[in-house]
Amino acid sequence: MTEKSVAFGESGRQPAIGQGTWYMGEDPQRRQDEVAALRAGIDLGLTLIDTAEMYADGGAEEIVGEAIAGRRDSVFLVSKVYPWNAGGQKALAACEASLRRLRTDYLDLYLLHWRGNFSLQETVSAMEMLIAQGKIRRWGVSNLDMDDMRELAAVEGGGACATDQVLYHLASRGIEYDLLPWCQAQRMPVMAYCPLAQAGRLRNGLINHPLVRQVAAGRGVTVAQILLAWVIRQQGVMAIPKAATIAHVQENAAALQIRLTDEECRLLDRAYPPVQRKVALDVV
Ligand SMILES: NC(=O)c1ccc[n+]([C@@H]2O[C@H](COP(=O)([O-])OP(=O)(O)OC[C@H]3O[C@@H](n4cnc5c(N)ncnc54)[C@H](OP(=O)(O)O)[C@@H]3O)[C@@H](O)[C@H]2O)c1
Repeated sequence: MTEKSVAFGESGRQPAIGQGTWYMGEDPQRRQDEVAALRAGIDLGLTLIDTAEMYADGGAEEIVGEAIAGRRDSVFLVSKVYPWNAGGQKALAACEASLRRLRTDYLDLYLLHWRGNFSLQETVSAMEMLIAQGKIRRWGVSNLDMDDMRELAAVEGGGACATDQVLYHLASRGIEYDLLPWCQAQRMPVMAYCPLAQAGRLRNGLINHPLVRQVAAGRGVTVAQILLAWVIRQQGVMAIPKAATIAHVQENAAALQIRLTDEECRLLDRAYPPVQRKVALDVV
């Protein structure tokens, strides 16, 4: 079976499951496990790695830098800039600091982490400058809802936005109402963060929901694998679960092979129905 993938432009096709890194780099005792988990993920084809200057104050980027040492060409590296750094010389300094921690000279994708201090036009101009300098290949945004995305599209150069990274999991389906169809119409990939609802911590009852467990048991896979397969069932959507153990990484990589049937999707819809009206974008 061919693996599901998502295209960030012509040269940027990636498997529909990547690797998140939030909370990595916080505990020196866990460093080697985190590096090993990321390396195992790359070996298993989870080649997109998502990080941010925010995570562990740059500590997560350092973990990624260690994990990708000697194999930069095999990964698609994504990092994010704080809103208060997302313009002018601040963007240049923030990007250079990320590159140093990541031990590389370019990012495949650089995201505005959330909307804040600079205007969208200032951020787009900063991103264009970073592309011109060869420091990033593409840029995108995160945590922008429909109105913000329309505003961005109207800004000069805004049409080059390569992705919107947003919260999306079975128990938080608001983007299906408007943002997701809009992105699909623009052929703009959506990166789903917290695809496992942080192992259920974001939504009580998700992991133990009887219908979700029934679907997992019916296939002999785990609930986490069903949650990932459900996120990537949508055209143009990729999931970036964070896993700091090799066992979790192996499970997540295997989820790339799962194609949910219509009947399985109906059961999951019964557990967590699609929204019927506009819901403000969920964030963590
Ligand atoms: N743009 C943004 O504002 C934003 C916000 C939040 C997250 N993100 C990005 O999205 C990534 C994912 O989100 P997240 O880390 O918040 O939550 P998540 O991926 O939904 O959940 C992570 C949790 O799930 C566990 N896990 C991973 N694989 C598992 C498996 N197969 N079975 C059971 N448990 C499993 C992890 O445990 P172990 O670590 O012990 O393996 C961890 O506790 C982040 O790491 C970050 O890169 C972006």
